[in-house]
Amino acid sequence: MDTKHTIDYVSEINRIKKEKNAVILAHYYQTGDIQDIADFVGDSLALSRKAASNNADIILFAGVRFMAETAKILSPGKKVLLPDMNAGCSLADSCSAEDFSRFIEENPGRTVVTYVNTNIEVKVLSDIICTSSNAIQIIESLPADEKILFGPDRNLGNYIINKTGRDIVVWNGACHVHEEFSLEGILKLKQESPEAKVIVHPECELPVRMVADYIGSTAALLKFTQKDNSDSYIVGTEPGIIHQMKKENPGKKFIPVPPKDSTCGCNECSFMKLITIEKIYKCLRDEIPEIMIDYDILEKARKPIIRMMEISAKPGL
Ligand code: 13P
Ligand code: SF4
Repeated sequence: MDTKHTIDYVSEINRIKKEKNAVILAHYYQTGDIQDIADFVGDSLALSRKAASNNADIILFAGVRFMAETAKILSPGKKVLLPDMNAGCSLADSCSAEDFSRFIEENPGRTVVTYVNTNIEVKVLSDIICTSSNAIQIIESLPADEKILFGPDRNLGNYIINKTGRDIVVWNGACHVHEEFSLEGILKLKQESPEAKVIVHPECELPVRMVADYIGSTAALLKFTQKDNSDSYIVGTEPGIIHQMKKENPGKKFIPVPPKDSTCGCNECSFMKLITIEKIYKCLRDEIPEIMIDYDILEKARKPIIRMMEISAKPGL
């Protein structure tokens, strides 16, 4: 890595940010250097909240497209920039609006709850959005006998069913990163470090969730490592989060769960990793690429997101 250029980009980014009254919001799956220059680092829910309440004129989103779109929906008057428009999400792409609309028709009379990891056209079809931080609370906010349709993540969906016992039909989509975590890899790591706690994201498959000591969103996993008294953790989510875990817990050890295919490096989210310091600099400088959403679509997608924000504004979330 060319350190000299990285340092130049960082000071230039800071200068332009000030000049243009811009903020950088970064997800925990971004590389450490990006997390360190961000004004705010968080999970999907925290980033949505921050996007909805800040005084900047420009939000540069260091994350993936559905997150930047959510920021634009919550702050339509601001310019929202995404340094690489190819930063998609395999989970969002596993659910097209056309197919999801058919799924809703095939399961009539159900309240449609979707995970925020969707393309905007799917949000338009939804009654309420949730994130991995508030999914259980969103479902539990609905009357006990309400029939629910959930998408697009089958693992999060099944996790919610197990936790709440609700009547939920689940769309059969998944994240290519979280389904790649190896159960054998975890068991081997556990043999080598029996004292280490296994902490995983609910997007992981059932066998991986079954061996976990704790399951939660990225923010919840981070919080767990701060409150828990163990010294080491086997981490079953995108390893970008380990940067914050190490920062918050300097004395502790964090071991990433390897992928099933040890040659592929695919326990990293290649979409998240499309964002680089250099692209952030150019994007802030030129103010492109910018998230643009048709007014009608934005208004329709806003309703289920606002419903989520209102429910999750309640104490404890
Ligand atoms: P969080 O809701 O924990 O931020 O997770 C988002 C995500 O994309 C997980 O793969
Ligand atoms: Fe999407 Fe998976 Fe990447 Fe999260 S880790 S942004 S769900 S592809």
